[in-house]
Amino acid sequence: MIRDGRIATAGAAAADAVLAEAARRLRAGALVAFPTETVYGLGADAASDEAVAGIFRAKGRPSDHPLIVHIAAGAHGEQALSRFAQPLPAFARRLAQAFWPGPLTLIVTRQPGVATAAAGGQDTIGLRCPAHPVALALLEACAAQGVAGLAGPSANRFGRVSPTTAQHVRSEFGDDLFVLDGGPCEVGIESTIVDCSRGAPVLLRPGAITRAQIEAACGEPLRDRHDLSAPDPRASGTLAAHYAPDARVRLMDARTLQSALDVLGAQAAHLAVWTRTGMRTASPDVLRRRMPDDADAVARELFAVLRDFDARGIRLIWIETPPNAPEWEGVRDRLQRAAAA
Ligand code: TXA
Ligand code: MG
Repeated sequence: MIRDGRIATAGAAAADAVLAEAARRLRAGALVAFPTETVYGLGADAASDEAVAGIFRAKGRPSDHPLIVHIAAGAHGEQALSRFAQPLPAFARRLAQAFWPGPLTLIVTRQPGVATAAAGGQDTIGLRCPAHPVALALLEACAAQGVAGLAGPSANRFGRVSPTTAQHVRSEFGDDLFVLDGGPCEVGIESTIVDCSRGAPVLLRPGAITRAQIEAACGEPLRDRHDLSAPDPRASGTLAAHYAPDARVRLMDARTLQSALDVLGAQAAHLAVWTRTGMRTASPDVLRRRMPDDADAVARELFAVLRDFDARGIRLIWIETPPNAPEWEGVRDRLQRAAAA
């Protein structure tokens, strides 16, 4: 069994064997970490409250925080939809059509009595059909064994930075966890979440799919969580302080950041700066890293960069505030949360 092999590059027969083994484990109630295009997920059979309890235990996450349930594409996906959710409103259907498989999670009304633990006891459920080929193959293999969906939060301990490689997952949970290695995640930040359970689309978490894309696809204006008076469901991805590395993070515009470096002079240790603008420093100890100019590229490397700074013993990370443009919203959101911790 090539448990730690790169599934994406393994031979077809070997890859099939690993996927079958993963599906068998999931069906038996165990946890399996799997790659998606956004971040790695920590999977369990969504219909088994007992299996899902294992996720909350492993993550150290409060069990009333709802999880996203991943479903297959095609016919198995349709079956899963009607198993877990009540019929979708037309605007939610249009969103699923436009973006699945892909980095979009829809919060919809749950079928009573199924996936109660995965939904954190709420009467809604988060559903997503991921675009990563390994995730899709795993979900197919699971569906074939009667596992209709995989509850899958990001495969990190509660409150920590999401994993974008199999190695990140192992560093969170150790070597006993079964991890499907599908290479580094292409998107790099978690899915955009749209709540479709309140009669109008509400953005709960920004991601790679922008507001404009969502509005164009569903034909309705996208509301903000604050616009609606109904209380927010508990959502750990929406806590102010989330996605934090061990080091303290500060966001500053380029000028402020340069002035701060000037004030420090040669007195700097355990400090990293991550900027689009070139920075001068009199200290040989400051770790300088260039941030790409493209939002997608920054998203792809964001969590790996934060983890890398931690691994190097950095205690303070100064980051240049991202541009105030729509395509940067997901990155801005993650960086602001890291800075709020
Ligand atoms: O990209 C992603 O979404 C990744 C990959 C693995 O798919 N998953 C992920 O899961 O980020 P997690 O559990 O780390 O974040 C899920 C977010 C949380 O903020 C959770 O509260 C929210 O989705 N959520 C899930 N179900 C919900 C529901 N029924 N109502 C409101 N929020 C919900
Ligand atoms: Mg998470």
